[in-house]
Amino acid sequence: MADNQAKLTVDGAGFDLPVMQGTTGPDVVDIRKLYGQTGMFTFDPGYKSTASCESALTYIDGEEGVLLHRGYPIGQLAEQSSFMEVSYLLLNGELPTADELDKFTYTISRHTMLHEQLARFYQGFRRDAHPMAIMCGVVGALSAFYHDSTDIADPEHRRISSHRLIAKMPTIAAMAYKYSIGQPFMQPKNSLSYTGNFLQMTFGVPAEEYEVLPAVERAMDKIFILHADHEQNASTSTVRLAGSSGANPFACMAAGIACLWGPAHGGANEAALEMLREIGTPDRIPHYIERAKDKNDPFRLMGFGHRVYKNYDPRATVMQKTVREVFEALNVQDPVFETALRLEELALSDDYFIEKKLFPNVDFYSGVILSAIGFPTTMFTVLFALARTVGWVAQWNEMISDPAQVIGRPRQLYTGPTERDYVPVAQR
Ligand code: ACO
Repeated sequence: MADNQAKLTVDGAGFDLPVMQGTTGPDVVDIRKLYGQTGMFTFDPGYKSTASCESALTYIDGEEGVLLHRGYPIGQLAEQSSFMEVSYLLLNGELPTADELDKFTYTISRHTMLHEQLARFYQGFRRDAHPMAIMCGVVGALSAFYHDSTDIADPEHRRISSHRLIAKMPTIAAMAYKYSIGQPFMQPKNSLSYTGNFLQMTFGVPAEEYEVLPAVERAMDKIFILHADHEQNASTSTVRLAGSSGANPFACMAAGIACLWGPAHGGANEAALEMLREIGTPDRIPHYIERAKDKNDPFRLMGFGHRVYKNYDPRATVMQKTVREVFEALNVQDPVFETALRLEELALSDDYFIEKKLFPNVDFYSGVILSAIGFPTTMFTVLFALARTVGWVAQWNEMISDPAQVIGRPRQLYTGPTERDYVPVAQR
């Protein structure tokens, strides 16, 4: 923290506002006492210039295209680490020793099963329900099953509920998929890795032994790492805001899932592949680029642009490489990848995208890989939610552990009618 001050002048009167410094990134002007001193609020819908909290988890430099978890670059983690290790890192702040990683992985594997009565929840959904609708419902319902871990003031309760959430998400997600296609639910197999087990529960059937392909398992694990956390994005901020009232972690995660579903956030991976399929062949790309530039047309290039990144999203770099690895391992080709590559090339040489600094984001290539692995588009955002659960849980824990934590309660610029007298209906 620095002793710097920012000066605000209101009607000729000067107010000193403290300036706080993080370990890296922009300083922040501390306006917590502004209302008390001046009677004014700040106005920042969409939080374009507002830091909503202090956090030591994830750092993004959007101008340079940098993403660090606890200081480690995302590219290094995706290429050299595992989702379990990154989960440990996000939750605990340091990379685990081999022994710590073994213990953590074992603990998570001991929480993978769902309560039998929770499995019956699925029957209440229509078969054609979007799996994200099922995820919102089932994850929210976890709070009705685990009363022994919902005292948020108890660090041990927080630890157990965090482990439960990370462990049960693959089971819940795979069951949402199985339900939609009318196949029996598969039980977790703890001899498999976290990601291998998820693939087994999703694509396996009871009648046959499911063989986890190492290349697919590795690609899927990488995708989970790339989605694990992303500082104060919309869904994470939703989890923090819900948690700030003291709500239990399962309810908070359901709130995060609901927010993630939107096409401007996690839902973009589903929308991006649908867009690429609709474009179809590279010769049709210019038409869609023109549509994206047309202010009278609501169409946007899905998987392009980002609130924070004004450079190439470092996760998209890894994704693009992973597409090739998966195609090679599965010996498949999908013309949609050629369309995506050409679209990126044309957009990045177009003045509109250059001036607005619009680059491919994490969602642009992820759908191509997930589709090659065999997931329907409706499952894409579910996979995002599965992986982001660790980020949500870590951010929620960080917030609750802070003794200075208070309920999040934004204010507003009121533009409605001023006080007026009620008129009885007969006189209107
Ligand atoms: N296609 C065409 N134009 C775009 C796009 C796009 N994908 N994204 C932004 N723009 C334009 C806007 O029209 C706007 O133009 P203007 O200044 O002339 O009005 C300008 O770029 C800035 O866009 P905003 O929407 O104001 O930027 P914001 O930071 O609020 O939005 C967002 C970021 C929502 C991600 C946006 O880029 C978008 O809608 N992208 C497509 C959806 C998508 O891929 N979302 C995934 C984000 S990553 C994630 O959540 C995991």
